[in-house]
Amino acid sequence: MKTLSMSVAVMGLLAASGLCMASSDRLEDGRKTYEATCAKCHETGVDNAPETGNAGDWANRSKLWDAVLSEHAQQGYLRMPAKGGNPNASKYDVDAAAEYMLTITHPEMPHD
Ligand code: HEC
Repeated sequence: MKTLSMSVAVMGLLAASGLCMASSDRLEDGRKTYEATCAKCHETGVDNAPETGNAGDWANRSKLWDAVLSEHAQQGYLRMPAKGGNPNASKYDVDAAAEYMLTITHPEMPHD
């Protein structure tokens, strides 16, 4: 939990200082979609959804998350509904939300 709030604070600082504008915009868009569409399952692990911020839940998922997990988020995967069950979400929205989840979960990984 400490690591999570630290990384949120660091991201806030980065956003405020105007560094990494492009990627923090995308992260911010991702956060909005995440909170509107994905959080209801991924905050608490509904139906065994991997919890955001709980690296252990994600440990056995694809390391190629950029490609594979984004594909699963778009198309659906087992009990994970396509686009988080929101047909109005754009591909960009869903990708940004998935990146947001994984950035929170693995703050140490490099993200572009
Ligand atoms: C109705 C509940 C629900 C919602 C809403 C939801 N998810 Fe999921 N998600 C799941 C479940 C359940 C799984 C686990 C699927 C499994 O492995 O059985 C999952 C798995 C995933 C995975 C991992 C897929 C893999 O290959 O291991 C990603 C990435 C993901 N969700 C992204 C998202 C994103 C992005 C959103 C919002 C746009 C979202 N989810 C909304 C239930 C949900």
